[in-house]
Formats: sequence, structure tokens, C-alpha cells
Amino acid sequence: MANLRNVFTEKQVEVLHQFTDNHDWKLMINSGAVRAGKTFVDNFLFLLAVRHAAEIAQEQHKPFVQFILAGASSKTIQSNILDEMKTTFDLDFTFDKHGSFKVNFPKLPPVKVVMAYTKSIAGLASIRGMTAYGAYINEASLANELVFDEIQKRCSGKDARIICDTNPDVPTHFLKKIIDRARETNDRTVVSNHFTIFDNEENLDPLYLEHLLNTTPTGMLYDRDILGKWTSGEGIVYADFDVKKNIITRKQFDEMYSLAMQRHGLKYVAGVDFGYEHKGCIVVIAVDKHRGKYYMVEEITHKHWQKERWILTAQKLVRKYGNIPFYCDYARPEYVAAFQDAGIKAFNAYKSRLYGVEIVGSLIKQVRFQVIKEAIDYFEKELFEYNWDEKTGDPEKKDGNDDVMDTVRYAIATYVNLQDKKRSNSNKAQSYNSKLAVADNLGLI
Ligand SMILES: Nc1ncnc2c1ncn2[C@@H]1O[C@H](COP(=O)(O)OP(=O)(O)O)[C@@H](O)[C@H]1O
Ligand SMILES: [Mg+2]
Repeated sequence: MANLRNVFTEKQVEVLHQFTDNHDWKLMINSGAVRAGKTFVDNFLFLLAVRHAAEIAQEQHKPFVQFILAGASSKTIQSNILDEMKTTFDLDFTFDKHGSFKVNFPKLPPVKVVMAYTKSIAGLASIRGMTAYGAYINEASLANELVFDEIQKRCSGKDARIICDTNPDVPTHFLKKIIDRARETNDRTVVSNHFTIFDNEENLDPLYLEHLLNTTPTGMLYDRDILGKWTSGEGIVYADFDVKKNIITRKQFDEMYSLAMQRHGLKYVAGVDFGYEHKGCIVVIAVDKHRGKYYMVEEITHKHWQKERWILTAQKLVRKYGNIPFYCDYARPEYVAAFQDAGIKAFNAYKSRLYGVEIVGSLIKQVRFQVIKEAIDYFEKELFEYNWDEKTGDPEKKDGNDDVMDTVRYAIATYVNLQDKKRSNSNKAQSYNSKLAVADNLGLI
């Protein structure tokens, strides 16, 4: 192969050699960090594999053969693979009425590429019973295991190989078990490659990379996103929280923001977690939009408070901070409705836990989230008991120990998510990697 290094990273060249030089493998799992160059090389392997399938079709005198292109959903196949194919190779694929497309290589029979959606077993329907001459599974860790097994079974054509592209997940994930088992038993039919973000340093904007390193929370998220490790995390979720930096006194806050500034220059949002037997909680976050900073200025946490008492508390906060939005846990819709009936601007909170702790964790790491000492009731106590669940790779769900943590997350993650949506609506045309987008990102949350 002529100087592949002109086009590919060192890691990608390694993977390409493995693809072409080693003929024993049936399943290749390329996993690792985000933006590590996995999909770029895997899309290339996909084309090589489809071409090989066409050669087999010719050898076996078949009018055409089939190949499986699998991803979590049609949307992710489009954005991760087909759009990328267009940018990288200027290739367009035209779908037929069954949602498949044909790839034609000169002088070879065509290859029919059939989509399979792996997120649920409904995705099996499109490939049931077929004989495939290979498969490419994007975001393989999101695949339902039954669908994954079925794809493997379908790949019974001569030389059929499966390429998997994935971010890491928990160490107990079925894909990780396949990787480990193959290593332990020296099974040459399964090969795997591990990417870190540094494997793709040459193709990432240095500013963007620096930003990612500085903003990815230490611990599980850094280990997965940057180092590409299969881990469920251990220890506390907000490992970057430093009481010396992330807690300030009311006096320090008042010195930074004049009363006029506090009244008119800051924006306030609240988070609400309703509870009776476990703690109920309302927090108020002050947002300094210009400096991208967030402060917890109120935390009201109580057990055994009736709905009415929470409404009175919210009304009191409205008198103090204005008609601010309350982002609420909607596990109790009747509570949210009661807030709304009382004239409080109550909304359903953004509830994705992992994404929420990523946002809050990132702000903590950058010391862009600070907590006012005098406002704290249970915050600090909960923070140091708020651990990763080693089984699920999510924050541990422990009754009574995460109420304030949840409430803070609702307030901040909902606000950030809404801002993010506004921003992406107005900047849709911008490319992800452009300097502009990077600059935008720096002031993002
Ligand atoms: N060999 C390469 N040449 C040019 N750009 C590349 C190369 N490899 C990756 N990239 C670019 O780097 C970014 C991240 O690569 P990608 O393959 O999407 O990473 P991953 O799938 O690991 O998240 C993308 O913008 C991609 O186009
Ligand atoms: Mg990718």
C-alpha cells in the first residue's frame, strides 16, 4: 500500500493492515474515544468489504449479493455513515422503495446494501432469513444483543466479515465480553482495536482538543470519551468538585456582583424535585450569561412537606427573583400541574441523567459552577455520597441521597439544553469542526 500515512492516522493504518493482511478474522470491533477517527476508517473498511462482496458474487456467478448496514436507527445511519461518505468520498447512495441501495463497482455484479436497525428486535425484520456477504454495524454498543446475534448468523456468505464501530460502554457489556473472551482464548476470528482521542490528534483542531480535555469531567466520562476505556466508573460522580474553589461565601458573591447586577444582570432558573417520604427540594441557580457561570444561590430541602408548602415556597422565590422558570421532576405530574395552577412557570425538566451529570460535571471542572456556602443545606453531604453505580455506569440511584443532586441537575441541564437548542437552530449550517463552531463551543454552556 503506497503511503497510506498521507491519508490516514497511524492507528487507522494499523487497522487497515489488519483488515487486508490477516485473513482469519470474521468479526472486527473498533472501539474507543469520541472523535478518535474510528468511523472515518470504518467507513473506508465498509467500502472495501462491499467491494470484496462484489468480487465473491462474480466468483460465484451470482447476479448480486447482499450486505448489511446496521445502526441504531435510520437517522444515525444517515448522519454517521451516509453523510460522512458524501463528505469524504463524494459518494451518494440512492435508496430503492424497500429502503436498500445498490453499490456498483466496474465489471463486478452489484451489491445490495440492506439496512438493519439495531436498537430493538423490530429491526430484525429486514434481515430475517437472508444470506449476507458482510456487515457493518455502527454504534454497535447500542445494539440489542439479539439483533447483533442475528446479524452474525446472517453473515454466512463466503468470506463474510463484520465490522463494528463503537464507543465504549460498561465493562460487562456483551461486546466487551466478546473482545475479552477472544483475547483469553486466542480466538483469531475476532479482532479488536482500541482508539484514544490522541490517535486522531492530527485531524482535530488543537483548540477543540484542548477544550475537550479541559471540560470533560474527570473519572468515568474522561476515561470513556478521551481514553476510550470500557468502564462503569468508580467513586464519586463529581470528582472535580473542590470545596476551596467550588464553594464561595455570600460575601464573595456580593463583591463580584453588585446588587443592581444581581437584580438585572443575572438570570435565575430553579430546579424542583418533589418528595414527601424522601426529601423534596428546590434550588435556584443564578446564571451569568456573559461569563458562562452558574451559582447555586438557594437550596430548600425538606421531608414531609405537603404540596401547598412547596407552592408557597416557590411563590416566595418568585417574589424574590421574579417570574423565573421552575424545571420540575415530572414523575409527579399532579405536582407540576398544581404549580402551574398557582401561576408558577413550571416546566418538565430535562431528565437524561448521564448527559445531565456530564453538563454539571463539566461546569464543576471548569469552576464555572459555584455554590454559595450560606445557601447549602444538604448539597455538600449528598455530593460526597453521590457515586457511580459500578453495574450500570450511571449515577447510583440511592433513596434519599440524591435529591439535591437531581434538583441541581434539572435546573442546570434543562437550561443548558434549551440554550443549546436555540443555538443549534440558529447555526444549523455551521460545520462541527470549523473554527467558528469551536469558538462557539467555548462559550457554549
Ligand atoms: N484520516 C483522516 N483524515 C482526515 N480527517 C479525519 C481522518 N480521520 C478522522 N478524521 C476526522 O476527525 C473527526 C473525528 O473522526 P471520526 O472518525 O468521526 O471519529 P470517531 O468515529 O472516533 O468519533 C472527523 O471530523 C473526521 O472527519
Ligand atoms: Mg464515530
